[in-house]
Amino acid sequence: MSLVLPSPETYNRVLGLRVVRAYTDEPIPPTEMDAILEAARWTGSSKNTQGWEFIVVEGDHLDTLATAGSFTDPIRNSTTAIALVQTPEGNPFDIGRAAQNIMLAAAALGIGSCPITLHDTDRASEVLELPNGFSCRYAVALGFPFNEDEKESRQTRRISGMGGRKPVEDLIHRQRYGG
Ligand SMILES: Cc1cc2nc3c(=O)[nH]c(=O)nc-3n(C[C@H](O)[C@H](O)[C@H](O)COP(=O)(O)O)c2cc1C
Repeated sequence: MSLVLPSPETYNRVLGLRVVRAYTDEPIPPTEMDAILEAARWTGSSKNTQGWEFIVVEGDHLDTLATAGSFTDPIRNSTTAIALVQTPEGNPFDIGRAAQNIMLAAAALGIGSCPITLHDTDRASEVLELPNGFSCRYAVALGFPFNEDEKESRQTRRISGMGGRKPVEDLIHRQRYGG
């Protein structure tokens, strides 16, 4: 029996979401940016606390933000990044959900994205001028995919064993671990 998908586009979008690290110089139009931020705003959160704020970073400030992490080239290559700020009420799970909403909304608009770890959170706080008690460990780099460069970088990742996913039998258990 074949699987019936009432919304195949949504399911395929979820399964097909891959990071994009190479972008063209084309800026993201304000309407598209607003749509992406709206998707972030509507993310569900624990007890609906919405313990996040979002800082849109563009221009020279991208290079400055990139100094807060170790693998931040996608931010340097991007036209826009969204820094996900965790407020004192927030938690990392909810921040992750907001990041995924940003990425899925961007993909629906033909925009590529890559989550970025800002390993040096003190530096991120300094660059973003965060108030006390607020923190930022993750950003999402955004841009229209530069397909030629992206193809090359995907091939490199595949060869180095960084692509794909673990097989189902290594991941899914029933009733108990190992079941
Ligand atoms: C929490 C998190 C942090 C990440 N940090 C970085 C990063 O700092 N730099 C980077 O280039 N990619 C980063 N990535 C992207 C991952 O490397 C990518 O999701 C993974 O390799 C799978 O890629 P794929 O979805 O295209 O198959 C991060 C992803 C997640 C979920």
